[in-house]
Amino acid sequence: MWWEDAVVYEVYPRSFADADGDGVGDLPGLRSRLGYLADLGVDAIWLTPFYPSPLADGGYDVSDYCAIDPLLGTMADFDGLVKDAAGYQIRVIVDLVPNHCSSANPLFRAALGAVPGGPERARFFFRDGRGPHGEQPPNNWPSQFGGSAWTRVTEADGRHQGPDGAGQWYLHLFDTSQPDWDWRNPDVPALFEDVIGFWLDRGVAGLRVDVAHGIFKDPDLPDLAGRRPLNAPSPYRHRPELQPLYRSWRAILDSYPAAGFPGARTAIGEVWYDVPETLTPYLDPGGLPQVFNFQLILAGWRADEFRAAIDSALMLTGGSRAPWVIGNHDVARPASRYRLDDGFTPQTVSRLIALGDQNAGTGARRARAAALVLLALPGSAYIYQGEELGLPEVTAIADEARQDPRFFRTGGEYPGRDGCRVPIPWSRTGTGFGFSLTSQGAGPATPWLPMPAEWGRYSVEYQLADEHSTLNLYRAALRLRRGHPALGPGGLRWVGPREGGLLCFAREPGFILAANFGQAPAPLPAHREVLLASGPVTGGRLPPDTAAWLSA
Ligand code: NOJ
Repeated sequence: MWWEDAVVYEVYPRSFADADGDGVGDLPGLRSRLGYLADLGVDAIWLTPFYPSPLADGGYDVSDYCAIDPLLGTMADFDGLVKDAAGYQIRVIVDLVPNHCSSANPLFRAALGAVPGGPERARFFFRDGRGPHGEQPPNNWPSQFGGSAWTRVTEADGRHQGPDGAGQWYLHLFDTSQPDWDWRNPDVPALFEDVIGFWLDRGVAGLRVDVAHGIFKDPDLPDLAGRRPLNAPSPYRHRPELQPLYRSWRAILDSYPAAGFPGARTAIGEVWYDVPETLTPYLDPGGLPQVFNFQLILAGWRADEFRAAIDSALMLTGGSRAPWVIGNHDVARPASRYRLDDGFTPQTVSRLIALGDQNAGTGARRARAAALVLLALPGSAYIYQGEELGLPEVTAIADEARQDPRFFRTGGEYPGRDGCRVPIPWSRTGTGFGFSLTSQGAGPATPWLPMPAEWGRYSVEYQLADEHSTLNLYRAALRLRRGHPALGPGGLRWVGPREGGLLCFAREPGFILAANFGQAPAPLPAHREVLLASGPVTGGRLPPDTAAWLSA
């Protein structure tokens, strides 16, 4: 199947390219930049949500699953995008958000207006509160973004109210504006089957399934007992009811003819897990074709941690069913994250802010090395927009400019994810560094998130002109990967000592990856030729924080 070794590029549409000059990226902007993505050498793009949304959580608060937000374009723009992308041999994957919708979704609005116990409420989790007047939330579940996972409503009909006028509570594992669907209500799976069919009919090659480890809740909604490791099974994570659902979706995917390309359509679940074994049920052969493998995001900058992360995934499955990633729109950018030695945690962004300018060069070098590790691994890999430019996490964002609900719900304790969502710089100079292709009104538009003054030196224009740039490293890696018989699906064999800072694996025929996580230059393993390196390699020695692709 095409997806078994695909390199997929994640597009955060509001930050990619802005065609109409309003400071917000849009589908025509993306469409006009497809040539860039074809030159980069990716096989597919995954678009995070572009549906009508109040944008309380960057579009993961969907008010209409089968339409385009007018800020981002029209359905004709979407169809044109799919068609043009196919012309470049690029497939399109869209985001499916089945755990929750927006509080602006008409079905939730109907639930708010309905009486407690009515059928409109049964599509969500409306419950009476605890305490003498129902003033306590129904259970102790936390929202992922901070605070309680329950919000109390004011009843429309004046009945069923506590003394303060408030009524039932509804569940939202994320923001208040993102009510969770109750998947045991038959209306909900039926609704999503229609949504899946709608986008597959429009020719998309796959779906990325948001919160695929969530969706089903223990019907008793029991309190969470004690402290559990993050991402471990719980009353709302990794429930056994998920697998029959995913088998039914797989049957839908497999019933679709090829979307202008040979091969089936895919779906890739966002599954965060604690230990690799938690992933096992998702690897049921008839389930979702793919789930993300986030282990390289969680691994610290150490050879043994990278090796363990790679082994743990390969032990269960090849990288074809669990594609590799080093970043996405939810985590601090690799070029900054690797300034720290340990893996990503919810505290990473605060720690980067505290770090100031220290280690910036180290982070950038390590991110280039990590890219060569990523793209040499067996199976499929995802690249998040801007990784190919080595964009750092933007840490200096004024509170007033922040958008992430995590920032607001934690009273600023967690700065949130805005720093990895800053618009792409296309040109060296100008307001918005070419992000807005045209300007509206009198002057150039202000980008929806502020772009740092030095963003020009990360721009596509700047990097295309520099043969040693990160962009040119990615382009060369993707070109080599396409042509090299050892790269793509398959396996790997560790070579060299298991201790120390050097990570080396071989792939057949004739390919070796070497990455130096240590403090001192390390001798390269026996090889014929250096095919590509993330930094200068001289005298057969690999400098610290550098990786190389070798022919054996
Ligand atoms: C995961 C998405 O990647 C993230 O951006 C979003 O906030 C949550 N799911 C909730 O939809």
